[in-house]
Amino acid sequence: MKPPSIKRIALTTVVIAALWGCAPEDLPYSLGDLPAGDAGRGAALFTQSINGSPACSACHSTDGSSSSGPPLDGYGQAAGTRVKGQSAALYSFYSILRPAKHLVRGYSNVMYSQYADKLSQQDVADLIAYMLGL
Ligand code: HEC
Repeated sequence: MKPPSIKRIALTTVVIAALWGCAPEDLPYSLGDLPAGDAGRGAALFTQSINGSPACSACHSTDGSSSSGPPLDGYGQAAGTRVKGQSAALYSFYSILRPAKHLVRGYSNVMYSQYADKLSQQDVADLIAYMLGL
């Protein structure tokens, strides 16, 4: 039998690296990499579909009314208390990009999970700025 070619070994390495990239913690950028957020732009993004993703407002109200996701009125106060030792901004960052990481009590893991691929870093920064002002 022929030994595996260099090409095959290289390909296998790439595939393993790609699968490894799916690990929940692993994001291509961190909170500190984000540009300054614009809350006004975030408010507009909140109600829009971006690159085919569902709008945040499809699942989240900002007036306290119930939906499939938790209402986000008062979120600016709540965000910093959700996970011990995690700032409001960091909690928000993970809530958007890795929604399965921490589930809000009483809700199930149904939040759309592909925002990391659909939103730009500016979009994420703007959405966080908007939500922290709610
Ligand atoms: C398909 C429905 C759905 C969509 C679309 C959705 N979410 Fe969610 N979201 C949820 C659900 C359900 C939860 C609660 C479970 C969890 O924590 O993942 C949640 C949780 C959250 C939380 C945590 C709230 C808290 O009180 O701690 C934030 C923040 C959030 N979503 C922001 C967003 C933003 C921003 C968008 C748009 C970019 C968005 N969500 C789109 C369903 C959705």
